[in-house]
Amino acid sequence: MGLKILGTGRYLPETVVTNDDFAKIVETSDEWIVKRTGMKQRRITEQPTWVMAERAAIAAIENAGLTAADIDLILCTTVTSDYITPSMACIIQGAIGAVNAVALDINAACAAFVYALDMAHMYLQHGYHHVLIISAEGLSKITDYTDRSTCVLFGDAAGACVVGWSEKGFASTLGADGTGANTLFARRPLNEVPFVEQIDPQSIDGFPDVNRPGVLYMNGREVYKFAVSAMSHALKDACEKFGTTPEELDLIVPHQANLRIIQSAAKELGLALERFYVNIDRYGNTSSACIPVGLSELGEAGELKPGRKIGLVGFGAGLVYGGCVFEL
Ligand code: ACO
Repeated sequence: MGLKILGTGRYLPETVVTNDDFAKIVETSDEWIVKRTGMKQRRITEQPTWVMAERAAIAAIENAGLTAADIDLILCTTVTSDYITPSMACIIQGAIGAVNAVALDINAACAAFVYALDMAHMYLQHGYHHVLIISAEGLSKITDYTDRSTCVLFGDAAGACVVGWSEKGFASTLGADGTGANTLFARRPLNEVPFVEQIDPQSIDGFPDVNRPGVLYMNGREVYKFAVSAMSHALKDACEKFGTTPEELDLIVPHQANLRIIQSAAKELGLALERFYVNIDRYGNTSSACIPVGLSELGEAGELKPGRKIGLVGFGAGLVYGGCVFEL
């Protein structure tokens, strides 16, 4: 048993930040950013993440021809939730009136949409009918705008999908390597607690003492190496489980972290870059929102045609990765 995409939606904030805008605040250039990442612009907003999520969710439900009351499960993915508790999924459930939906959040960084799709697939086998996945990321809230090696990479966005049961197949490969947890992380600021001396987790975990709490630190080269091998492994493995090969996929929507990573993975898989959906030039890296935003754009362009075989693949902080293959 598989799953099918019933509807997609996205929300991109209005404010466009170009590479030249970054050249005004850190030592960088349009030439460096385009050559090393493929990024030209990204969107950012001051709005809470859940507001972007709500807009993408409403668009996806409408696109599916359903109402909020038809949704029986909401899975939200984010690393930039506005609240520690409740979950963003519960906030959205209340905001859109999805009165029949169970709601929970998933934190699997940039691979989270694929993790959520895999979970949706399992829930659909157990009696759920319409799963709403919303991936919303306000990365500008955790970006260090004094660090040129990370600040140029990230943007804000939300993408959503409603998925339902299908007779066609679905296969996935998920993975994690927690030994790489200290290569990409953001620490929570410590609370002032009376009675005890606070211990900074870095002093016990061996994470590098490199960034201030609340903003992202990344060892770009290490993450890069992990990314290329994780992407090709996840996609190949998911294809094998599905009973196909990467060459037979009509379309691949990868996480948009760096155009060179996508190019290297394409090369390792022996595929033309044209097979991969790329919008990194317009939005940069929007973490778990990259893949559903891409799906929404493809849906609008009429590219999600029934019978096509699609591969999705992501990786990110954790370190984690996930790939899946299904027939539209
Ligand atoms: N402008 C100009 N120079 C820069 C910039 C910049 N924006 N950023 C870094 N540099 C400099 C560095 O300081 C370094 O200078 P040095 O040689 O004098 O020390 C030089 O450029 C080369 O730096 P590298 O880190 O080797 O550059 P690289 O080609 O590896 O590109 C990048 C850096 C783009 C970060 C790359 O490593 C990358 O994409 N890594 C993976 C990122 C990723 O996949 N993240 C995904 C997860 S995101 C998430 O989970 C939210």
